[in-house]
Amino acid sequence: MASLLSLLTVRVCIALLALTHAVVAQGDFATQCSSFINQVDIENVTVYTTQYVGAGSTVNLSGGDSSCGQSSQVASANLCRITMEVATSPNSRISLEAWFPQNYTDRFLSTGNGGIGGCIQYTDMDYTSSLGFATVGANNGHNGTGGAAFLNHPDVIIDFAWRSLHTGVVIGKQLTELFYGAPHTASYYLGCSTGGRQGWKMAQDFPDDFDGVVAGAPAIAWNSLQYWSGNFYTVTGASGSPTFVSTSQWQTVHQEVLNQCDALDGATDSILENPDLCDFDVTPLICSGGSTANCLTATQAETVRTLLSPLYDENGELIYPRMQPGAEVLASYVMWNGQPFAFSTDWFRYAVLNDSSWNPATLDLADYATVMAQNPGGIETFNGDISAFASAGGKMLHYHGLADGLISSDNSKRYYALVQETMGMEPAELDDFYRFFGISGMGHCSGGDGAANIGNGAGAAGTSPDENVLMSMVRWVEEGVAPEVVRGAKSDMYSGQVSYWRAHCKWPLTNTYVGPGAVEDESAWECT
Ligand SMILES: *[C@@H]1O[C@H](CO)[C@@H](O)[C@H](O)[C@H]1NC(C)=O
Ligand SMILES: *[C@@H]1O[C@H](CO)[C@@H](O)[C@H](O)[C@H]1NC(C)=O
Ligand SMILES: *[C@@H]1O[C@H](CO)[C@@H](O)[C@H](O)[C@H]1NC(C)=O
Ligand SMILES: *[C@@H]1O[C@H](CO)[C@@H](O)[C@H](O)[C@H]1NC(C)=O
Ligand SMILES: *[C@@H]1O[C@H](CO)[C@@H](O)[C@H](O)[C@H]1NC(C)=O
Repeated sequence: MASLLSLLTVRVCIALLALTHAVVAQGDFATQCSSFINQVDIENVTVYTTQYVGAGSTVNLSGGDSSCGQSSQVASANLCRITMEVATSPNSRISLEAWFPQNYTDRFLSTGNGGIGGCIQYTDMDYTSSLGFATVGANNGHNGTGGAAFLNHPDVIIDFAWRSLHTGVVIGKQLTELFYGAPHTASYYLGCSTGGRQGWKMAQDFPDDFDGVVAGAPAIAWNSLQYWSGNFYTVTGASGSPTFVSTSQWQTVHQEVLNQCDALDGATDSILENPDLCDFDVTPLICSGGSTANCLTATQAETVRTLLSPLYDENGELIYPRMQPGAEVLASYVMWNGQPFAFSTDWFRYAVLNDSSWNPATLDLADYATVMAQNPGGIETFNGDISAFASAGGKMLHYHGLADGLISSDNSKRYYALVQETMGMEPAELDDFYRFFGISGMGHCSGGDGAANIGNGAGAAGTSPDENVLMSMVRWVEEGVAPEVVRGAKSDMYSGQVSYWRAHCKWPLTNTYVGPGAVEDESAWECT
């Protein structure tokens, strides 16, 4: 009995010791974090706070700009949160944060931004820090989701175009070394939309910043894109105009797109694997015989034709490709809703025309000429020569939802073709450093009807390289195993439950259903 008791006591002591050890290790990290504020001495950098955040605790973000729409973020891992301001010129500054995980994997990563903002992407910072990346994120030089800060502030535009991200990377790498006591071994980028453009801008102009860039749905050809998005309102008119097509009519159009094009990839599953095959004809939807339900007037049919066609200037030069068919419903809510598109309006008002009362209904080809000539901050991001990035050993994984209703995936294909032509390389040669994947049934960066959960953000269906686009980039950079496909899960929006996976093909290959399994069966598809 006595010996049993002492044995128990010994065990309890060992258990306590182990516990104490763990607590002390965590305590060391927390102490290291709080004292880090006194160790940073970097030119132009003012550190505000260094704060230990335990996994599961809530970071209070309510002091930030309310238009960013995020008042808190729950941390998924133990980390040290560092908040800073960095001067980028005598007239501009960025807010920069570092989220340094306790469970660090020697990898550095920068997140990007969205829209025309102005908001640190905390959800992404939490996601990547929980995967062990020493993560940074900045506010892109101004606060909030709007563009008013650009007005008569060229330095704020430059921050937005490239300098905020690049500065955050330069400072972030120094902080990583200072904090962990050794430099990172590999450097990554993860971003989508405006974030996708930022990733491409670094690959084009700062080829040493990243070893691996994951750039989604990039807003490249930025000025052309702003013109294309702004032009929609001049085509649709306001809600109720004869030219306007309602959301429920767009649902009818979408159904007709599926009737005409869904089966072209071999499967009738409401998802277009290859929108390029779809030569949509709106004629069957035009009202006839006095009927007005579930049909379009000739004027509305013309609106549909225009919006699903490429946009050209007066000389017949392409401004921007067509909205790829399949994205009608999302586009009708966000872009074709009878309102001017806010990002485009803000870009022309505050960055280009310097007139905060400019009326977006007056947008015309003269404004297009102005924005292209001005290219504020060098933001266009459509340089097809990425040889410096390739020589530096950089790897680019570019993806785009094939049902993106905000930025047409056709523009990503246009850029791929531009790189091919500019560098004089075949896809097999580009494969060494640049791979593009169309993600069928993915809307703008996430969501949609298809197997769109590729692991490009929170709610990833898996963390292994075969289930996660970011970890597949890590494998490419660190093990030289390049991705042949990007696998996506069809996840339930609320429960996260996965119903099936699909392997999305490396462009210019596209997916074809060959059977014999069901369409949900990954092996029933072939990249052809
Ligand atoms: C969050 O911070 C704001 C000020 O930035 C403060 O007013 C508020 O009380 C804080 N909320 C919590 C839950 O601590
Ligand atoms: C952005 O907001 C932060 C507070 O969250 C503030 O410290 C910073 O100065 C603001 N930046 C600009 C450019 O106004
Ligand atoms: C600090 O900012 C100034 C502009 O305000 C810039 O000229 C200088 O290069 C910056 N220093 C570093 C180390 O980046
Ligand atoms: C730390 O990260 C590794 C690999 O990323 C993982 O296997 C391990 O479970 C993590 N540990 C903690 C305590 O999160
Ligand atoms: C707007 O202001 C910028 C400088 O901030 C200038 O370069 C540009 O030419 C101006 N645009 C017009 C249309 O006057």
